[in-house]
Amino acid sequence: MNQIGKPFVQLITLMVGLLALATALVGVIGLVVYLSYSGVKLPELAPSEPEVKLTAAVEAPKPKALMDVAGIWAAPDWASVDSEPNAESIKYGKELVANTAEYLGPNGKVKKISNGLNCQNCHLQAGTAPLGNNYSAVASTYPKIRARSGQSEDIEKRINDCFERSLNGQPLERNSKEMIAMVDYMKWLGKEVPQGEKPKGVGIYEVPLMDRAADPIKGKTIYEQQCQSCHAADGQGLPKPDGSGYTYPPLWGEHSYNSGAGLFRLSRFAGYVRANMPLGATFENPLISDEEAWDVAAYVNSMDRPSRDLSADWPDISKKPIDHPFGPFSDGFSEEQHKYGPFKPIKEAKAKSE
Ligand code: HEC
Ligand code: HEC
Repeated sequence: MNQIGKPFVQLITLMVGLLALATALVGVIGLVVYLSYSGVKLPELAPSEPEVKLTAAVEAPKPKALMDVAGIWAAPDWASVDSEPNAESIKYGKELVANTAEYLGPNGKVKKISNGLNCQNCHLQAGTAPLGNNYSAVASTYPKIRARSGQSEDIEKRINDCFERSLNGQPLERNSKEMIAMVDYMKWLGKEVPQGEKPKGVGIYEVPLMDRAADPIKGKTIYEQQCQSCHAADGQGLPKPDGSGYTYPPLWGEHSYNSGAGLFRLSRFAGYVRANMPLGATFENPLISDEEAWDVAAYVNSMDRPSRDLSADWPDISKKPIDHPFGPFSDGFSEEQHKYGPFKPIKEAKAKSE
């Protein structure tokens, strides 16, 4: 090694070292950001300072768990699926529920019949999350007569309801490989639930009714503080760069679910959000209050979304849910009140007439 070469090599070594350190740092920061978004609790690095509570007197009480965990439904062990004769179909069904857009969205590799949402965006963790709109009672309660259509609906029909409304798309053929797979998956999920029963933690949380109407103006503030960072100020969410769906799904506008979707009912939206949003919330650790859930629902529902011809729905109008926002109604309440509340008077009138 000559006289110039040695310091040069040292310099290179130093630079390589620095580069490695910088890469490691970026990696660690990335991991921490990823973990905190994915809801994993990070250990505290140093014992935290005793908190100085200046705002103790005005601090809002932390929302409590929405349901006691004892006896709550849990999906069968995924590892046991291989022992099923139709394991391949069940697995494909789960994949379709989780990544619907990749297969059936606007750029779907099987068919292009839906708007880019995944079933899992609303049926969380592939339809297994307690109070996350899970599929625990699908196998045990279908076919059933539904008042919305006035007909008996089987699982295939119910799945297509969500394709045509929640995914603002077209129905899937009943005998297609995809339909069979989704039905197989739902039957497998609910295989331990006795016929006719609905397990604890099924569906969506029923948020207690307020005495006042839900308020879109209050809801806008909540939206800006709690939702906008992911779902964006214009409600359009964050599409994936390759067009295969969304990192953060849209909440209104042309790419969202249509006016005939269950989530457009204020109580469904409020209940879904109360137990599951902002991302990281669960029924055990909710992050917003009942009132906030109603008001943010009102804000989102005050925005435009695709409309659907609902004239054939609810053939018996007296069966419309109290928060179905489209007339005609069998009671004397306005569309406005059916959309935002107050719902208690509507509920009381309904109870009297039944
Ligand atoms: C935008 C949200 C949303 C999306 C996306 C969505 N659903 Fe739904 N789904 C709902 C809501 C809301 C309900 C009704 C829940 C209630 O009223 O308790 C529902 C109900 C269902 C039910 C009936 C559950 C029961 O216990 O009665 C099935 C089955 C279903 N969806 C399947 C699907 C499938 C399959 C997909 C994807 C192709 C899908 N959903 C996508 C919101 C959605
Ligand atoms: C940290 C990011 C984040 C925040 C903040 C957040 N969400 Fe979400 N939201 C998501 C993701 C991701 C999904 C899809 C979940 C999945 O597929 O597992 C989702 C799904 C939804 C859905 C169902 C799918 C759809 O497109 O309609 C609704 C409704 C929703 N969020 C409402 C809200 C509301 C209201 C707030 C504020 C109170 C909120 N979210 C805050 C990330 C977020």
